Amino acid sequence: MRIRRNIVVALLALFSLQSYAEEGMWLPSLIGQTKLKDMQAKGLKLTAEDLYSINQASLKDAIVTLGGCTGEMISGEGLFITNHHCGYGNIQSHSTVEHDYLTNGFWAANKQEELPNPGYTASFLVKMEDVTEDVLKGVKPDMDEAKKDEVIAKNKESIIARATKNNGYNARIEALYYANQYFLFVFEKFEDVRLVAAPPSAIGKFGGDTDNWMWPRHTGDFCLFRIYADKDNKPAKYSPDNVPYKPKKFFTISTKGVKEGDFTFIYGYPGRTSEYIVSDAVKYIAEEGNPHKIKLRTIRLDIMNRYQAKDPVVRIQYAAKNAGVANKWKKMQGEAKGIEKLGVVAEKQELENRFQEWAAGKPEYENLLPQFRELYAEVRPLDFAFDYYTEGFNGIELMSFAANFASLDASLTKEKAAALKERVKTFYKNYYQPIDQESAKALMAEFVKNVPAEFQPAVLKENAGNLDNWIDGLFTETILLDSSKVYRILDGDPSEIAGAMANDIAVQVNKSFVDFYKENVIGKRDVLNSRIEKLYTAYMKGLMEMQPDHVFYPDANSTLRIAYGKVDGFNPSDAVRYKCYSTLEGIMEKDNPEIYDYNVPQRLRDLYEAKDYGRWEVNGTVPVAFIATNHTTGGNSGSPVINGNGELIGVNFDRCWESTMSDIKYDSDLCRNIAVDIRYVLFLIDKYAGANYLIEEMKLN
Ligand code: ARG
Ligand code: GLU
Repeated sequence: MRIRRNIVVALLALFSLQSYAEEGMWLPSLIGQTKLKDMQAKGLKLTAEDLYSINQASLKDAIVTLGGCTGEMISGEGLFITNHHCGYGNIQSHSTVEHDYLTNGFWAANKQEELPNPGYTASFLVKMEDVTEDVLKGVKPDMDEAKKDEVIAKNKESIIARATKNNGYNARIEALYYANQYFLFVFEKFEDVRLVAAPPSAIGKFGGDTDNWMWPRHTGDFCLFRIYADKDNKPAKYSPDNVPYKPKKFFTISTKGVKEGDFTFIYGYPGRTSEYIVSDAVKYIAEEGNPHKIKLRTIRLDIMNRYQAKDPVVRIQYAAKNAGVANKWKKMQGEAKGIEKLGVVAEKQELENRFQEWAAGKPEYENLLPQFRELYAEVRPLDFAFDYYTEGFNGIELMSFAANFASLDASLTKEKAAALKERVKTFYKNYYQPIDQESAKALMAEFVKNVPAEFQPAVLKENAGNLDNWIDGLFTETILLDSSKVYRILDGDPSEIAGAMANDIAVQVNKSFVDFYKENVIGKRDVLNSRIEKLYTAYMKGLMEMQPDHVFYPDANSTLRIAYGKVDGFNPSDAVRYKCYSTLEGIMEKDNPEIYDYNVPQRLRDLYEAKDYGRWEVNGTVPVAFIATNHTTGGNSGSPVINGNGELIGVNFDRCWESTMSDIKYDSDLCRNIAVDIRYVLFLIDKYAGANYLIEEMKLN
């Protein structure tokens, strides 16, 4: 009896340890050794070399990282596609009330009309390689941690120097599996990237924050950019003489569509996941971190929304800020629910119990979990205070602005002063004081109410009884909100800027807050976190030893990955079944001129009325978006969704709300990425915008 039960327990354990087939974000250069066979069994027709090669053009050469988003080449003339929400800041920066590209969309009629975006870059991965041995060269087991870190840092520096010598590339080394492995990533970065096309927000952001992170979805979340290069096809600063870049590889677009069960994969730059964290960390996120951060963001959003609805100038000024705050706000809510629903804390605890049993008698591992427990208990109050500091204090725009000046000294160079002036300009362009002042009062009230006294700086304690007056005084007395004064100082002698700003009341408040936090929270928290990181290095190694047959994927860290799965509907809750695709019918069902997020552009209504779908019609309508089981995260926005032949079928832009815990725990029944169907994109370019010349440079199949 006892034996039988043990077998059942062991089998259950084995099952929950194995990742689901769809789970994982894999390193392309290792795909042949890890997942290629499985991918091929499920429908991939390509070889490992087709996916990733340094000797011949491969799919990796059609992917760009845009710093936080992904894009993919879709023509031989430097054209790439990404999400509307990825280009949003650029679209906003070209928009004015008179030329409102956010509202009306933008379609360059020819290359001369494409709009440059200073500071916006697109990088191709040249190669990636395992450099673990070189990074750890000279590291001895008996060295203390500081010494080890020093040796590793030196090694990294010289590897990077070697990889970037005389080739104009840049490189970084990233730790994988909690520093059990190191990889070098070499990039070629292009700096002349121009906006080619964007649909109106009523298409590109259709459903807005109401539908964000949700299925069924009907967002035409795409925009187009073009990379320009010098005459030798090499990166160059913006110049009218630059020419369209010729990529080594670009995607063929499939117009044949997708159906339930089809194999798909995603190639892109997922930002960050934490799949291996211990139960204590998950508990903090679900029970404390997320709820408090959500509350602080709700406060800011309510205030922004109110003022934005009243004034079209403010609506544009705060468009990207609002979207950024709202996005994570909603994601955290889904994540907390998903963690709860899946019982992730209990499941992790169960894994930890097994680990502890397995580790007994193994000195390298047997003390890890008790140490985690201790360190997490110690860091918890610091995390809490830190969350209020980043989400509350730094949520006050005046304070993050003041930080620019609080950190200056007399050594400021002319170049740095010029760069500072640029930041200052952007700040004023997108700043509306009533929003910030009202937020500041509400945020500081929450701070005083929730953060323990030991983590409140003196300046806050002194004014806690009189917050509103104190904040009004701050906003009135500071010179930072008087742009002409600030510009006058910035245009003067750079060495005197710091001095001239030092006495400003906002700069002083910022400085006392920041100094207090550095000393009492951030410094201590960093020390604990680096000890926790070291535990994870050992824990990860132990998990791998404990499950030798299991293929582990490294947590996402903004490096190039492949995820694969299939087009698939799901049951989000009892009695509800979601289909795997949406259509234009759904857009018209949602259409409501009274609701900002659902106000369909008249031109799209007209096309619908006339059923003027041209070659993009499928069963009397136009497909809009679809979902699949690919394991993705933030940063995968804009990533190509690819069929078994390596053709582009969609552009990834989101996950379902029920899925957002997949950064911590993936579940194949609930986790779905959302992509805009490439046929909807083509329909919009062709029929909505009449920009057929763009389709002509693409390769359709
Ligand atoms: N949720 C998607 C992502 O994480 C889309 C965000 C677009 N922003 C928004 N606030 N609707 O990036
Ligand atoms: N929209 C997200 C992004 O900006 C992708 C959605 C996700 O987190 O999966 O990368």
